[in-house]
Amino acid sequence: MNKTLRRPVIAGNWKMNMTPSKAKALISELAPKVEGKNECDIVLCVPFVDIAVAKEAAEGTNIKIGAQNVHFAKSGAYTGEIAADMLVEAGAEYVVIGHSERRQYFGETDETVNLRTKAALEGGLKVILCVGELLSQREQGITAEIVSLQTKIALQGVTAEQMKNIIIAYEPVWAIGTGKTATADQAEEVCAIIRGVIAGLYDDAVAKATVIQYGGSMNAANAAELLSREDIDGGLIGGASLKSEDFSIIVSAAN
Ligand code: PGA
Repeated sequence: MNKTLRRPVIAGNWKMNMTPSKAKALISELAPKVEGKNECDIVLCVPFVDIAVAKEAAEGTNIKIGAQNVHFAKSGAYTGEIAADMLVEAGAEYVVIGHSERRQYFGETDETVNLRTKAALEGGLKVILCVGELLSQREQGITAEIVSLQTKIALQGVTAEQMKNIIIAYEPVWAIGTGKTATADQAEEVCAIIRGVIAGLYDDAVAKATVIQYGGSMNAANAAELLSREDIDGGLIGGASLKSEDFSIIVSAAN
């Protein structure tokens, strides 16, 4: 019943795939397939150099554009990094922060995730904040603790008002890019735990209004079941977002 308070968000995470010309072609292919499917927000989080082209290709469609990371400083000597106002001016409305690949391969910590989150919000971006446990942590039975801690640290200093611009993506690391999807029961269980953490940090109203996505090998075949669960309000989709047909089926499942 609370689900009706939230508008699902189906977001593609292209990761390090698609040159600008390929981005344009994929969006042209996808746009007619998702036309009129307006019961959810549709977002594509693309590589930095694709943002402007993607924004142009998505003009007049129901597809919104996001980035995959943002730095916490406004500007300065941070070679290789990118600031929120640069993303906004290029056409991004959303940004993924704290993806497990950033945490695993690029030294991202809960603290830097928190700094980036606050900078993104201040810069006017909507944040897709990723949390999720490793397989070893699930096996140790500490999934709830890990995900709760990640959520709490990431949201330090984020106000209840700013929570309107936060989407949490629960992404069990063992399910990402592995073809091993969490069962709908497993995903629902953790998404509900995250909602409880938000209720504790803020209040019930904020918790009920926060969009919580599942991510990790969500695909055309399993999306409908995952999205039917009470606390799963959308998906963050990697592999299947690179195929217009598959991604459009996931969007349909959210409609
Ligand atoms: P996947 O990636 O759908 O390819 O598992 C999800 C993600 O990393 O966001």
